[in-house]
Amino acid sequence: MRTVNIEVTVNGQLYRKEVPVNQTLLRFLREDLFLNSLKEGCNEGECGACTVIVDGYPVNSCLVLAAEMDGKSVLTAEGLAGDDRLHPLQEAFLEAGAVQCGYCTPGMLMSAVALLNLYPHPTRDQICKEMEGNICRCTGYARIADAVLLAVDKMDAERKAAAEAGVEMPVFAGIDEKFSDKWNKRYNVS
Ligand code: FES
Ligand code: FES
Repeated sequence: MRTVNIEVTVNGQLYRKEVPVNQTLLRFLREDLFLNSLKEGCNEGECGACTVIVDGYPVNSCLVLAAEMDGKSVLTAEGLAGDDRLHPLQEAFLEAGAVQCGYCTPGMLMSAVALLNLYPHPTRDQICKEMEGNICRCTGYARIADAVLLAVDKMDAERKAAAEAGVEMPVFAGIDEKFSDKWNKRYNVS
């Protein structure tokens, strides 16, 4: 099998790898980098279980090749939590009961990250529309939308508390943290 060399940043860390030309990003992340949060569901772009963020865009990692990732920046659910705490989205999914078997959850979280970059204060309708590509077989979508709204409240509360205390603003991965020029351009960040 022919191979190519790529340089790709994943969750803030640069990797130089030789990959088969036909290896999907899903397989690369799971099998080469052991990032097993993303799941192989349908393997044909229908379920969203393999969703990651590539240069600011939510991507079904089963549908793109690792070879295409040269020079790009990828964020997976493993990159969401900080050293000593979960991401507010992760906390909110737990608190709102938006997780049952958990198979869809990492993909849901990454689609929620993309959603909150487009709509920092989304309506329930916007949540449903932007996350319609992610299928959940057991929780039901109402609690997932509840969780996204709860995460927004959590982040707003932390930012407000930091502003009032005059301390450094919190940085939430994928939302306040910028990953590349393309990411910044997509979300109009200067
Ligand atoms: Fe990729 Fe279903 S496994 S969309
Ligand atoms: Fe089971 Fe969504 S929690 S598929």
